[in-house]
Amino acid sequence: MHKYRITLEGETCGGDQACCEEAPNTFGLNEDGRATVLDPTGDPPERILSAAKLCRLGNITLHDIDTGAQVYPPKPKPRETTPLSRFADVVRWRTLDVPILLGDGTEVRIRSMTDDDADASYAFFCGLPDEDRKYLRVDVTRPEVVRRRISYMKSGKVKRLVATAGKEIVADGALELSGDEWASHVAELRLIVSRPYQRRGLGMLMARELYGLAAGEKVEEIVVRMAKPQTAARNIFRKLGFREEAVPPDQVRDRDAAPQDVIQMRCDLESLWNALENYVADSDWQRAR
Ligand SMILES: CC(C)(COP(=O)(O)OP(=O)(O)OC[C@H]1O[C@@H](n2cnc3c(N)ncnc32)[C@H](O)[C@@H]1OP(=O)(O)O)[C@@H](O)C(=O)NCCC(=O)NCCS
Ligand code: SF4
Repeated sequence: MHKYRITLEGETCGGDQACCEEAPNTFGLNEDGRATVLDPTGDPPERILSAAKLCRLGNITLHDIDTGAQVYPPKPKPRETTPLSRFADVVRWRTLDVPILLGDGTEVRIRSMTDDDADASYAFFCGLPDEDRKYLRVDVTRPEVVRRRISYMKSGKVKRLVATAGKEIVADGALELSGDEWASHVAELRLIVSRPYQRRGLGMLMARELYGLAAGEKVEEIVVRMAKPQTAARNIFRKLGFREEAVPPDQVRDRDAAPQDVIQMRCDLESLWNALENYVADSDWQRAR
């Protein structure tokens, strides 16, 4: 009989027992209220697979015990459909350096950040509410920090994009490439949209352009990190196919020096492509001309 090796990400388990109800002889809750494997052969394989699919956090991974192959979640598809080979498609619907109309008719433009953006970038960060700014790693209310951030682009390890409305910067996005050779296929994505421009689809458009940059850099996986209270960020990245990963609690301090649990989410470029493609089909933005 087909049997699975079951890997369970206990740290992020929400304890809703969806897996336990579907395969009660295989999964149970431990005393911390998190799922645990009772018996990897407790239920028929199809029930175990169904339980894995029901986990909304994607905490359950199944490998075929005989072949070692990952059965769930399915591995990214083979070469001809890799994001990089689809890069030509990405370019076709890219929105970089062209006027874009958001759904409500506002015109914005997404482009690479340049040295000339220092003042506008400083004004952008100063205009953010404390709530959106306090989880940033550096103090962007200091002009020299903003300038340093821009000049660091010359290292090639970070690509920055801005969205502008007239002369004003209304969103800032970054793709940080890993300096470590062993992790050179992974990049970190950072994104922040000014309050008046949030919930107008700009975050998704910026994410799409950052995807294009990642594909161009041959990145295979993207991670995002955020503090637990940043629910909007969690939602947008979940929608883009990112899955939460376990990280130790109390990993960072915010700008008020309060400890914050970090949530790390990861997505391979193939899944991100599919999520963005669906979003493009549904969205109401358009090129202005
Ligand atoms: C996260 C952030 C970048 C999203 O930008 P945005 O321009 O508002 O995002 P979009 O309008 O493109 O929204 C895309 C989807 O994300 C989800 N989303 C965005 N904001 C949300 C919110 N406040 N609550 C719930 N879901 C939200 C929704 O599913 C939304 O789709 P919908 O509007 O069709 O329902 C923005 O809220 C932000 O800058 N937050 C502060 C900084 C931050 O947390 N950055 C992330 C750390 S890397
Ligand atoms: S379904 Fe997922 S989140 Fe829910 S209890 Fe099981 S492992 Fe935890």
